[in-house]
Amino acid sequence: MSFVAPKKIRRIAINTGGGDAPGLNAVIRAVTLSALNRGWEVLGIRKGYGSLLGGEPCVRMDRKSVRGIAHLGGTILGTTNKGNPFSTKVNLPGMRRPRLAADVVVDELKRLHVDGLIAVGGDGSLTIAHKLMQMGIPVIGVPKTIDNDLNATERTFGFDTAVATATECLDKLHSTAQSHDRVMVVEVMGRYTGWIALHAGLSTSADVILVPEIPFSIDKIARYLKARAREGKPYAIVVVSEGAREAGKDFFFKDKKEKGREPRLGGCAEYVAERIQEATGMETRALVLGHIQRGGSPTTYDRLLALRYGAAAVRMAEEGRWGNIVSFRPPHMTYAPIEKAIERKTVPVDCDTIRTARELGICLGD
Ligand code: F6P
Repeated sequence: MSFVAPKKIRRIAINTGGGDAPGLNAVIRAVTLSALNRGWEVLGIRKGYGSLLGGEPCVRMDRKSVRGIAHLGGTILGTTNKGNPFSTKVNLPGMRRPRLAADVVVDELKRLHVDGLIAVGGDGSLTIAHKLMQMGIPVIGVPKTIDNDLNATERTFGFDTAVATATECLDKLHSTAQSHDRVMVVEVMGRYTGWIALHAGLSTSADVILVPEIPFSIDKIARYLKARAREGKPYAIVVVSEGAREAGKDFFFKDKKEKGREPRLGGCAEYVAERIQEATGMETRALVLGHIQRGGSPTTYDRLLALRYGAAAVRMAEEGRWGNIVSFRPPHMTYAPIEKAIERKTVPVDCDTIRTARELGICLGD
């Protein structure tokens, strides 16, 4: 079944799903104000689809509820990256038997007279939103993720802040690496793409940057570091994307099989640091930046981008462009089918940023 576009919009709902990203609150503010200014009502669904599945009830969004939030990290609606409604059953009071959570979500949205849903999320949440649309719910997606790995949009909000945070940390590590003559191996987020590692690494003049798109060789890295040491620089900063992998080997996973959620990547920095120490005799330390990259206030760039995404989502709803995500094609906000956005956007290995890194003499591990 496909969705039936509402003739007249009276009420929309908004939710935030997946990992949090700086800028979510700015999107919520922009969606709410743009909709209220059109005379529509806005329902905030808490914790992904939690409010529709027996969790804390939906919140009626008014001007006060979105006052002073654009600069705040996290999401006032809460989020979750567990319990995909298409693989979870629920048994709520009044039900005779457990039901697929997605069926309950669809029924609840209809019972609440929601004319359309603005789903703010990354690939997982947008995949869910796409399936809900196929079950009859008009949906518009807003692409969110610090990883910047969604196709059909130039830039996801949250990425700029994550890169800024990683940059600040890497800057601080340079002085300690140099003082101790150490190799600091720093793991950053980004899932199966190297956008964060490449942008933060290049901006901070890292010596080695390892991204998933370019499988690495420890031998090549060791030779590079030894040559640096011979030139009088027995220290280095190695930026490693959590999704980087050695040529011919698998990704580094923390927990591959945790039920109902994506496998978690992690462990690459530890491995690379140990191998470098073995191969070069240089003292190494491994450090994982982790969730600090998702926290804190959005940068000005992300705030503005998120506000524009939110306003554009409501504009698209008014124009009846259901089934699309808002797509940022600078300087324009346009739209693209949700299924296109879910495709992964990797770093092109011949892009200008990679070429710049190579031309500056940075080792990319190949
Ligand atoms: O997608 C955002 C992200 O922060 C990734 O960079 C990272 O791999 C993952 O989420 C971590 O997920 P969790 O918050 O479940 O540890």
